[in-house]
Amino acid sequence: MSASPLIQLRDLRKSFPSNGKEQEVLRGVTLDVARGETLVIIGASGGGKSVILKHCIGLLKPDAGEVRVEGKVISSPDGVDAQTIRRRMGMLFQGSALFDSMNAGENIKFAVREHRPELSEAQLDALMREKLQLVHLSPDMSSKLPNELSGGMKKRLALARALALEPEILLYDEPTTGLDPVTAGVIDDLVLDMQRQLGVTSLVVTHDMPSAHKIADRIAMLHEGKIIFIGTPEALRASDLPPVRAFVRV
Ligand SMILES: Nc1ncnc2c1ncn2[C@@H]1O[C@H](COP(=O)(O)OP(=O)(O)O)[C@@H](O)[C@H]1O
Ligand SMILES: [Mg+2]
Repeated sequence: MSASPLIQLRDLRKSFPSNGKEQEVLRGVTLDVARGETLVIIGASGGGKSVILKHCIGLLKPDAGEVRVEGKVISSPDGVDAQTIRRRMGMLFQGSALFDSMNAGENIKFAVREHRPELSEAQLDALMREKLQLVHLSPDMSSKLPNELSGGMKKRLALARALALEPEILLYDEPTTGLDPVTAGVIDDLVLDMQRQLGVTSLVVTHDMPSAHKIADRIAMLHEGKIIFIGTPEALRASDLPPVRAFVRV
């Protein structure tokens, strides 16, 4: 880990209209992610965890506050081109968000075709097979449609697709939600592999506490629109904060 954080969220605020009123989902979220670490954000459903990740990758713009990557503001119109930074990030979306009409191989190659037009079809195939191998899927899988894959395989394919542009930063939205404990453990191991083998910096959102404890260097808890706790898994277990106690117990 280097001294300056790779990702910095500074006093992020975001409201959405709800039943004619503005509902403030993020009420000043401040968070640093160090280069090479796996930071896990926990918190209740509907609390704004996915909203945080969407700000990191530029899919949402904050009402106030900033997202910085390597010190560069990527969240405002006069900041650097968010697309340039986005290319350095891969995201595994909640529910995988695979292209259902494309086979597994095409799901991986899709963004690469657009961003690296210099690659030949043979090079694209080689890259696709390499990404499948990273997530321990056989090359035979490439001709399958997403609907023909199990839940765990879909997550692995979504991870392979997130890796396609060789990102330095991986954002994972609920990577183990809806999986049985054994399959969830396989995905946790992959998250750890990506950190160890590829040296990526990861921001993971989850409400799966066993997963959080297994993969996190640090855990941050989002509660009522703010980060109320950040520290190691051990420090989380020892925390006396009532919302932390209530959440960790369930
Ligand atoms: N694009 C959007 N438009 C309107 N409301 C949204 C949008 N995205 C999220 N929200 C609202 O923000 C809140 C937090 O959502 P979300 O980040 O998905 O929660 P979490 O991921 O923690 O379960 C929810 O009330 C949700 O309805
Ligand atoms: Mg979510």
